[in-house]
Amino acid sequence: MELIHVADDGGDEMTLVNYNGRKYPKFPGSMQTKPIEKLPSVEIRSDDILVCTFPKSGTHWVCEMVRLLVAGQLDPDVGKGFHLMEGCSEDDYKNLPSPRILNTHVLFNDLPEQVKVMKPRILYVTRNPKDVTVSYYNFVKKLTMCYNYTGEWKNFFRPSLEGKFDNGSWFDYVKDWEEVKKTTDVPILTINYEDMKENLFREMKKIQAFLGIRRSDEFVKEVCDHCSFASMKKSKAAMSAVTYRKGEIGDWKNWFTIAQNEWFDQIYKEKMKDCPLEFRYTLK
Ligand code: A3P
Repeated sequence: MELIHVADDGGDEMTLVNYNGRKYPKFPGSMQTKPIEKLPSVEIRSDDILVCTFPKSGTHWVCEMVRLLVAGQLDPDVGKGFHLMEGCSEDDYKNLPSPRILNTHVLFNDLPEQVKVMKPRILYVTRNPKDVTVSYYNFVKKLTMCYNYTGEWKNFFRPSLEGKFDNGSWFDYVKDWEEVKKTTDVPILTINYEDMKENLFREMKKIQAFLGIRRSDEFVKEVCDHCSFASMKKSKAAMSAVTYRKGEIGDWKNWFTIAQNEWFDQIYKEKMKDCPLEFRYTLK
């Protein structure tokens, strides 16, 4: 595990952690506590709920919905917080009451080894890669304590999509999960950001059925209201500047140039030729 500095297309550098050939953010304290090295041996319970995402795909949104569905009440303090497993020590979540809500951006095979044995339920969240890349750029720029990055969008866009920065390439991540879903017997429900934007109630009903939770439609509607972008941005004030930015589909149009868009479409065609996944880039 070592600190590295990765340059964008303009020479601006980002500080990252390199471990076993994969790059991770330099979370506060992570060089001392080494959570990524300890991840394989983390204890997993069969009733844990794992939220697995490529960063900026709607992790906080899904975790908050799940927290409220599990709690069965809108109390802001019940089951507060959730834990990014590669970013914090196991001590932070090992004594939490069940069901614990844990989240991660690592690939399936890098999850704790007990996942394959205990078979916790996994909510796998996807989002269109254009909005993911824009969201990630804004996140990385704002989170100076982790990334120390001041580069420009035009220099970030290409290396980000090619997987040069932390968590690697979005393409590799989603293709890996598509393969895993075909072969594993660990229960996985795929949830999509654009679908949630289109009809949150419908998607939340899917989540609660998958998790075996029974709440009234009235309560699920209350959770929908509580989890609207405006409401979450207000209630999560401490993180709102970094995590709750726009919460829209299609903001990429304000960032991608015509040339970048053409490059993206070409790369998408090449990289996804054996993986017939389709994403919505606008919501009509
Ligand atoms: P934007 O940067 O496009 O606004 P993650 O939680 O995986 O880090 O993802 C963060 C992205 O999800 C941000 O996208 C954020 O605004 C969006 N998001 C968070 N809560 C949301 C909500 N309640 N509704 C819609 N989008 C939300």
